[in-house]
Amino acid sequence: MSRITIAVIVGSLRRESFNRRLAVALARLAPPEAEFKQLEIGDLPLYNQDDDGQQAASVQRLKSEIRAADGVMFVTPEYNRSIPGVLKNAIDHASRPYGQSAFAGKPAGIIGASVGAIGTALAQQHLRNILAYLDMPTLTAPEAFIHAKEGLFDEAGNIGPNSKAFLQGWVDAYLAWVKKHAA
Ligand code: FNR
Repeated sequence: MSRITIAVIVGSLRRESFNRRLAVALARLAPPEAEFKQLEIGDLPLYNQDDDGQQAASVQRLKSEIRAADGVMFVTPEYNRSIPGVLKNAIDHASRPYGQSAFAGKPAGIIGASVGAIGTALAQQHLRNILAYLDMPTLTAPEAFIHAKEGLFDEAGNIGPNSKAFLQGWVDAYLAWVKKHAA
C-alpha cells in the first residue's frame, strides 16, 4: 500500500479540546504517505432507529468518509468514566442500518487525553467493547492514556519533548497495524 488514509474521529466538540489538538499533533508525527482526515460529528442528529431508511445527509457523509479510509483513529476524552455521548451517537449512526455498518473490518486505533490522572483508561476500555462488536481489529499495544497537562504540546501545537518519543511510537505502531489489516 503506498498511500494510507486515516479517518479521525474526535470525541469532543469543545472548541479548545485537548483531544482535537492531540489528533492534529499526532497527524504531524506521521510520514507523508499517511493522510489523516478529521471527520465532523457535531452536525449529526440524535440517532433514531426510525430514520434508518432515510439517513440524514450528514450521516451518509460520515459513512462514506469512513468507508473511503484505510483505518479509523478514535481520539476521545473520558466523560463520567465512559465515552462521550457525541461519540457514541456517531458510532451508532455509522454502524446502521444493520448489515450496512461503515466500520466492519476497518483497523482501529484508540487514544485519548483527559485532565484526570487515569488519562481516559476507562473510556478506552468501553470503546474497545464497542469496536469488538463492530468487527474492527483494534490495536492493543502500546496503550496510550494521555494526561492533559502543561507541556503536552509545544507553542506550535506539536507534541512536547517529554511525550514525543512515546507518541511517535504509538503512531508508528498504529500505521503498521493499518497496513497489516487493510484490505
Ligand atoms: C469530564 N472529565 C473527566 N475526566 C476524566 O478523566 N474522567 C472522567 O470520567 C471525566 N468525566 C467528565 C464528564 C464530563 C461531562 C466532562 C465535561 C468532563 C474531564 C475531562 O477530562 C476534561 O473536560 C477534558 O478537557 C475533556 O477533553 P477535551 O474536551 O479537552 O478534549
